[in-house]
Amino acid sequence: MGFLCLSLIICFSSGADTISATNSVSGDETIISKGEMFELGFFKAGKSSKYYIGMWYKKYSSKSPTIVWVANRDTPVSDRFSSAFKVLDGNLVILNELKLPIWSTNVTASSNSTIAVLLDDGNLVLRDGLNSVEPVWQSFDHPTDTWLPGAKFSYNKKTNKSQLLTSWKSINDPAVGLYSFEFIPSKKMFVLKWNVSQQYWDPRNWDSLIKNSFENFSYQTNENESYFTYSSSDRSVISRFYMDVSGQLKHTAWIKSVWNLYWIQPRTQCEVYALCGAFGICRQTEFPYCDCLTGFEHRSESEWNQGDFSGGCVRKTNLNKQKTDFLMINVTNMPLNSSMVAKSAKECHIACLNSFSCNAYSFVGINCSVWDGEILNLSEDNANGKTMYVKVSSKDLPIHKKKKSSKVTVVIGTASGVGMLLILSLVMLALCMKKKLAGKTTMDGSLVAFSYKDLQIATQNFSHRLGGGGFGSVFKGVLRGDSSIVAVKKLESFSQGDKQFKSEVSTIGTIQHVNIVRLRGFCAQGNHKLLVYDYMPNSSLNSHLFHEKQEVLNWETRYQIALGTARALVYLHEKCRDFIIHCDIKPENILLDAKFCPKVADFGLAKLVGREFSSVLTTIRGTRGYLAPEWLLGVAVTPKADVFSYGMMLFELANGKRNVEKYEDSSLTFFPSLAADVVLAGGDVLSLLDSRLNKEACVEQVTRIFKVAYWCIQDEVDNRPSMSQVEKVLEGNLEVKMPPIPQFIKLYDNSSEDLVFIECSSTGSSQLHKNSS
Ligand SMILES: *[C@@H]1O[C@H](CO)[C@@H](O)[C@H](O)[C@H]1NC(C)=O
Ligand SMILES: *[C@@H]1O[C@H](CO)[C@@H](O)[C@H](O)[C@H]1NC(C)=O
Ligand SMILES: *[C@@H]1O[C@H](CO)[C@@H](O)[C@H](O)[C@H]1NC(C)=O
Ligand SMILES: *[C@@H]1O[C@H](CO)[C@@H](O)[C@H](O)[C@H]1NC(C)=O
Ligand SMILES: *[C@@H]1O[C@H](CO)[C@@H](O)[C@H](O)[C@H]1NC(C)=O
Ligand SMILES: *[C@@H]1O[C@H](CO)[C@@H](O)[C@H](O)[C@H]1NC(C)=O
Ligand SMILES: *[C@@H]1O[C@H](CO)[C@@H](O)[C@H](O)[C@H]1NC(C)=O
Ligand SMILES: *[C@@H]1O[C@H](CO)[C@@H](O)[C@H](O)[C@H]1NC(C)=O
Ligand SMILES: *[C@@H]1O[C@H](CO)[C@@H](O)[C@H](O)[C@H]1NC(C)=O
Ligand SMILES: *[C@@H]1O[C@H](CO)[C@@H](O)[C@H](O)[C@H]1NC(C)=O
Repeated sequence: MGFLCLSLIICFSSGADTISATNSVSGDETIISKGEMFELGFFKAGKSSKYYIGMWYKKYSSKSPTIVWVANRDTPVSDRFSSAFKVLDGNLVILNELKLPIWSTNVTASSNSTIAVLLDDGNLVLRDGLNSVEPVWQSFDHPTDTWLPGAKFSYNKKTNKSQLLTSWKSINDPAVGLYSFEFIPSKKMFVLKWNVSQQYWDPRNWDSLIKNSFENFSYQTNENESYFTYSSSDRSVISRFYMDVSGQLKHTAWIKSVWNLYWIQPRTQCEVYALCGAFGICRQTEFPYCDCLTGFEHRSESEWNQGDFSGGCVRKTNLNKQKTDFLMINVTNMPLNSSMVAKSAKECHIACLNSFSCNAYSFVGINCSVWDGEILNLSEDNANGKTMYVKVSSKDLPIHKKKKSSKVTVVIGTASGVGMLLILSLVMLALCMKKKLAGKTTMDGSLVAFSYKDLQIATQNFSHRLGGGGFGSVFKGVLRGDSSIVAVKKLESFSQGDKQFKSEVSTIGTIQHVNIVRLRGFCAQGNHKLLVYDYMPNSSLNSHLFHEKQEVLNWETRYQIALGTARALVYLHEKCRDFIIHCDIKPENILLDAKFCPKVADFGLAKLVGREFSSVLTTIRGTRGYLAPEWLLGVAVTPKADVFSYGMMLFELANGKRNVEKYEDSSLTFFPSLAADVVLAGGDVLSLLDSRLNKEACVEQVTRIFKVAYWCIQDEVDNRPSMSQVEKVLEGNLEVKMPPIPQFIKLYDNSSEDLVFIECSSTGSSQLHKNSS
């Protein structure tokens, strides 16, 4: 190869895999590994204007290249055309615009026949001459944030040094970040660390990964080193581990044009140590996750805007000579490194108040803890958390207004005081107040603010429980005014309550559609938060599909339910003023009125999105079995996530069973996978129907439903139809082609092997995974 390059003038554009003494990489030139797996050259990180030498997958990248290795991560260049990556005196070096070396492989042996070759496994090796086998340097020994299959993750016994993967500083900056992944040979384990010191992940999780993964791990030790390597047992799977900027270690595989996340630790963002920096607070249900404590502001606005929260927060007002007060917060875990003073609660308070260096205290039982210096790793939990008090300037604490006697002001006061409702709903609230004072009956189209007492009477003190919807119980009630029957949802007082309430009231309050359940009013009185809906006499879809006792829905009704639900989603995604992603489409959330007309309910997780559907990044949540793969990827979620869930629901609507069925011998079947052969071969689709229907259905409609369902659950977001296309197909106004079978079900379609659910998150999501043992 080297000789080839010497004799050919054009070497780079034709895809050479080698850098030798006579050529270099500059500007847009790249080198490409022989099998076209990897490419190396200058790249720009995210929105930054700086350039780095990096390596990325030639073929496996979604929109921007998936970078697996960066050479000069701390020393970027501004002009890639006047900079160069080349072999110089036996080393690989990067020369900047002034031809000064800013990065070097730093090996001592110098030779004039040194070459660097990019291999197909993603290793860039520096060799002394064409024939030498042992590399003098290789990128596998100097990883950035990614551990590729075949690379050794090692501990060097000669230098007592362990290899590290370190996160990028932010998505726009590959510089060394705060989170690292390190090998501890004495324990044969890996740990995650914050700022090289604080460990934040239980390494026992590693064992479960090794046991459950489809990767084949191997551990070796000799007199020079100990190391782990892995390779995929399935050669066709392209996979990698990387230390994400989020502080989470991720294992992903490229399946059907998307990086699918297989494993992530820690599972939730707020478990990552000190994610929000000093005096920052993490909220698992908000985006962004991080916020400053009341009385504090971002230390660096620009870093914060790039999703780098590590700089944390600083006081708005310096405490010098200021009147100080304490802010009460409830947190999942107390910060580390407190000092203990045995005192009473009052003395504890005073001890912190009087100490200049004290920034917070807590008093639990008989223990007084005080914290000096920066407070790190706060995660909010108002339900089961521990209470601590953070010192702030009185000036920066919200002023607590006195409660007034009028009912109306109490509601508004509580709402705004807690910062609970969006301005939108405040406006609504004010409007409703006027009506409320005029008389308590329901007003057409607008929301009624009920008092808690009203609803207690209407529901006979919450005696007739209809069920437990998302985030609270639902009770049947009768309104005094017009004797109409309502369903009253009582939100349980837990940490998500306020957010849930805010979300539901503001979301549903503004939307009206024949296939969306109508919100008639609400109650926000102190801790009581209730929502009042139209009562749906025929309960929810799941009760008819999965419970024997209920009346069997005939095919015509099922088809109308599919169509009505599609119309509701078209309205949410495309027609109403604020575009909305429902986020939790499943049979439980499709209610049925007296005529079995479907009404979409439960907007607890709904996301309002801008006109662009820009990026609704979110935590992993929703309901197992209906979640689109992108929820697990931590990437932008679009209305196509609803399309996916809707598709999963269509299978259940037709089949009358949950898609995942578990048998007594604990084996599992996955209906979309079982049905694929029949649908694709144009077989007897009626045989796939709920047996209670006795095949009484229109074949054409059944075929349409299944085809649409497979289109909806395509792995690739862009391949899924929009809900308006789905609507047109179901109306018979658009032809639908035979769908490709989604990769995620094909991969695991092997009835002789068990299907295993790997829990990916404590909040209820999961992934299908083939049992490797
Ligand atoms: C190479 O050595 C120089 C001088 O000792 C040092 O500043 C630089 O960081 C080293 N580069 C790498 C990539 O280790
Ligand atoms: C390589 O270096 C040696 C001595 O350092 C020299 O004799 C030889 O000519 C050089 N070869 C080339 C091709 O430059
Ligand atoms: C590495 O550790 C071993 C035992 O802990 C010690 O004997 C040795 O001197 C250390 N080597 C270096 C280079 O620190
Ligand atoms: C990380 O640790 C170093 C030294 O221990 C310290 O100077 C630095 O402030 C720490 N970084 C953060 C973000 O706390
Ligand atoms: C350990 O290192 C020495 C010197 O570098 C080498 O000769 C030996 O082969 C190495 N042992 C193994 C098992 O690689
Ligand atoms: C796993 O790796 C080991 C060592 O590389 C190899 O001997 C074994 O055959 C591999 N197993 C599978 C299932 O690929
Ligand atoms: C940091 O906070 C999270 C969330 O409360 C917790 O799970 C984790 O254990 C804490 N880490 C340390 C090292 O205390
Ligand atoms: C807490 O204290 C321990 C030991 O005193 C120290 O090693 C650690 O770095 C401290 N952590 C923080 C976040 O200050
Ligand atoms: C108080 O601190 C002691 C010592 O750390 C601990 O054993 C005890 O459980 C604590 N008591 C309470 C009520 O937290
Ligand atoms: C924090 O917890 C305490 C006791 O559990 C509770 O009284 C208080 O209302 C909570 N604070 C917030 C802001 O939810």
